[in-house]
Amino acid sequence: MKTVLITGVSKGIGEALRLKFTKEGFDVLGTVYTGVGKINTETGTESCDGVPKAKIFELDLSSPESIERCANEIIETGTKIDILINNAGALFDEDDTSVIVDKLRKTLEVNLVGPIDFTERLISQINSGGQIINISSSAGSLEKAGRVESHYPYHYPSYKISKAGLNMYTCTLAQRLKKSDIIVSSVHPGWVRTDLGGPEADITAEEAALGIYSVVVSDKETGGFWFGKERMPW
Ligand SMILES: NC(=O)c1ccc[n+]([C@@H]2O[C@H](COP(=O)([O-])OP(=O)(O)OC[C@H]3O[C@@H](n4cnc5c(N)ncnc54)[C@H](OP(=O)(O)O)[C@@H]3O)[C@@H](O)[C@H]2O)c1
Repeated sequence: MKTVLITGVSKGIGEALRLKFTKEGFDVLGTVYTGVGKINTETGTESCDGVPKAKIFELDLSSPESIERCANEIIETGTKIDILINNAGALFDEDDTSVIVDKLRKTLEVNLVGPIDFTERLISQINSGGQIINISSSAGSLEKAGRVESHYPYHYPSYKISKAGLNMYTCTLAQRLKKSDIIVSSVHPGWVRTDLGGPEADITAEEAALGIYSVVVSDKETGGFWFGKERMPW
């Protein structure tokens, strides 16, 4: 059985990914942050009857201590990982049209530095032939910057900067891990109806999870930026 580790499985796209991968027969490890109460972390599994089980760990990506503790807990289980999906993320400056430096720091911790720290601590646990998927956004595309109607040219700059940075991590890590035969990808999930995407968005979290799953199971080269089977411009 293959093992997938997904961050941010309490709600939104992460929750839909957790359910999709469990349904597809994967062993699922997940992390939660404030959504701890929703999933029974004492037993390490979900509490609702009839819902597929996942092993749950607590993780706050803005805290180096939490990242270290969570990564060590996962390593201590001795479980090898086939797929790591860095899904958890936050949008703190949705209504801003210029950079608010405090929000930029917070955004970079959660969306960029945290996922990098978490990934680097777990790379040794990822099987050869495995994958690292960074959930990015078309908002982080430099080529699309200022050209996409849905991403107004100077709105939510900190979020955009964080996703552009995450894309560069995908590129550099992909080159570094070529010899280990680990595929590293950035994936845009679409504009998704979640707390982050809002109620006007195009697709459901379940549809987004299907698109991300299709990237995971497709033949692809490392270091790509994908939206389903389509390439996204960097
Ligand atoms: N929705 C969209 O339209 C859209 C578009 C492009 C990209 N994305 C990306 O897709 C990913 C998932 O977004 P979503 O729409 O599903 O958002 P969401 O519904 O708001 O869920 C965000 C997830 O991230 C977790 N999280 C937030 N802050 C965290 C922290 N400090 N440490 C650890 N986990 C934290 C949350 O955990 P708790 O609930 O436990 O607090 C939650 O599970 C994000 O990376 C986002 O940038 C979304």
